[in-house]
Amino acid sequence: MAARAGGADDEIKMVTGTNMATVTITMTPTTPIQPAQSAQPAPAAGDPRLSDKRYKLLEATMRKHGYAGHALIESLHTAQQAFGYLDDFTLWHVARSLHLPPSKVYGVATFYNLFTLKPQGEHTCVVCLGTACYIKGARAAIAAIEQRFHVKAGGTTADRTLSLLTARCFGSCALAPAAVLDGEMLGKLTPEGIVRRVEDAIAREPSP
Ligand code: FES
Repeated sequence: MAARAGGADDEIKMVTGTNMATVTITMTPTTPIQPAQSAQPAPAAGDPRLSDKRYKLLEATMRKHGYAGHALIESLHTAQQAFGYLDDFTLWHVARSLHLPPSKVYGVATFYNLFTLKPQGEHTCVVCLGTACYIKGARAAIAAIEQRFHVKAGGTTADRTLSLLTARCFGSCALAPAAVLDGEMLGKLTPEGIVRRVEDAIAREPSP
C-alpha cells in the first residue's frame, strides 16, 4: 500500500484479496476542512493506551517518514487499517507525532471519504460509484444491498455486521460495476449477485 499527499486527486494503491489485484482508490473530498471538533487533550508520550500493538504499526509508518508532516495521509491509512477507524485518541497521537495542528489532522481525516471516524461493521462492502460503474448499474447494486440489509450507503447495520461504503473508481473499470467486499475485488456485479456475495460473506466467519 502506498499513498501520497496532495489534494483531491490523491490516490491510494493497495493489494486486495487472494488474487492480489492492485486496486486504485481515488479519494474524493466529502466535506470541507473543519477545525478540530474534540477538546480531548493530546496523549502523553507514555500513555498506556499506546502499548496496544497496533500503535507499533502506526509508529513504523511515521518513523519511516521521519515523523514529517507529509506522512499524514499514509499514517492515517495505516491507523485505519489497524483499528478499522480513526478515533480521537489516534488522531491526537498522529498530530502530536507529526508535529501538526490537530485541526489539520481532523481536517484531512474528514476531507477524504476513504477515512472513517466511526467503527465499521464486521464486514465491509465498498461499491464503486465512478463513471463506468455508475453507468453500468452501481446504483442498483447499492440499492439492493441497502434494501436487503437495512443499511444506508455510508452507514453500518444496527448489529454492526455490515458497513456499506462507496468509492470513486478502483482503477478496474473493465470490471464495472465493481465492489470490494472484505478486501476482495468483485466485478460485473448484478444487484442479485452482490447481495448473494454479501450474504455468503456474512454466513462465513467475520472478516479478519
Ligand atoms: S469506475 Fe468503477 S472501477 Fe473505475
